[in-house]
Amino acid sequence: MSITTGDFRSKITSSTLLDKKSRHEPITCLTAYDYSTARLVDEAGIDMVLVGDSLAQTMLGYENTLPVTMGEMLHHTRAVRRAVKHAFLVADMPYASYHVSLKETLRNAARFMKEAGAEAVKIEGGENRAALIQRLGDAEIPVVGHIGLTPQSVHRMGGYKVQGKSMRDIEQLMRDATALDHAGVVALVLEGIPREVAAMITSEIEAPTIGIGAGPDCDGQVLVFHDILNLTFTPPAKFVRRYGDAAELITNAVKNFRDDVKTHNYPSDAESYHLPKEAQATLEIVNSRKHAVRK
Ligand code: KIV
Repeated sequence: MSITTGDFRSKITSSTLLDKKSRHEPITCLTAYDYSTARLVDEAGIDMVLVGDSLAQTMLGYENTLPVTMGEMLHHTRAVRRAVKHAFLVADMPYASYHVSLKETLRNAARFMKEAGAEAVKIEGGENRAALIQRLGDAEIPVVGHIGLTPQSVHRMGGYKVQGKSMRDIEQLMRDATALDHAGVVALVLEGIPREVAAMITSEIEAPTIGIGAGPDCDGQVLVFHDILNLTFTPPAKFVRRYGDAAELITNAVKNFRDDVKTHNYPSDAESYHLPKEAQATLEIVNSRKHAVRK
């Protein structure tokens, strides 16, 4: 039985993603961090919505993803959950929420499912996370893996650099992808790796690959919502394609409001509330009496 949403599109699940891979039908994924944008993304028919820890930068103004907390991630995931009816909803586990102990990892991951309504969690890392991913699976928590340029490792990588360029690194990436596939990831994000390596991984593993800066041969593509709309205040990475300029739209709207208020053009009489006729007549009588007494 397939579950349908109110608008009669079928609900995207982890099985849908696998089916899409087998049919060579591209999977679409965007980040979303709040109710209104998540609604627009979901209603536009995107398959997967990721509450990425990139919200540390896009929504909270941090320099990188490391400072964002469980509390902040849960808060944003709950807002997105209320909006998303159709897409498969994935939440990023923040740095240090799955690095300390198995018990803490299970508890934190379960909070995303139980308290925030996520349908899977995403964790960064390669074969060193395989056992953890298996344990999360045992606890009925689907996991999306994330390898290549993993932003939570920015200090270990020495900056945001394309990964997997040497033979040694390519072999490691292949081992990582295979280990995560065997551990049961429902999808695997490939970030910042050469197109050729992403293509090899995609054809080698069963789980659908979702690329970001990994070329066109992945099973799907993900981009950051703020990147495609020019809302990031930084020069875009090579792989970003801008589909709109929300910065310009918002700036123009805000400036027009400012100017209308300053020049008494907002609000107009039509944008004001009015008293009912009888109340207005009574008020006029009261006012004219007050006026007469003062004279
Ligand atoms: O946090 C994020 O937005 C991500 C995507 C870029 C894959 O992890």
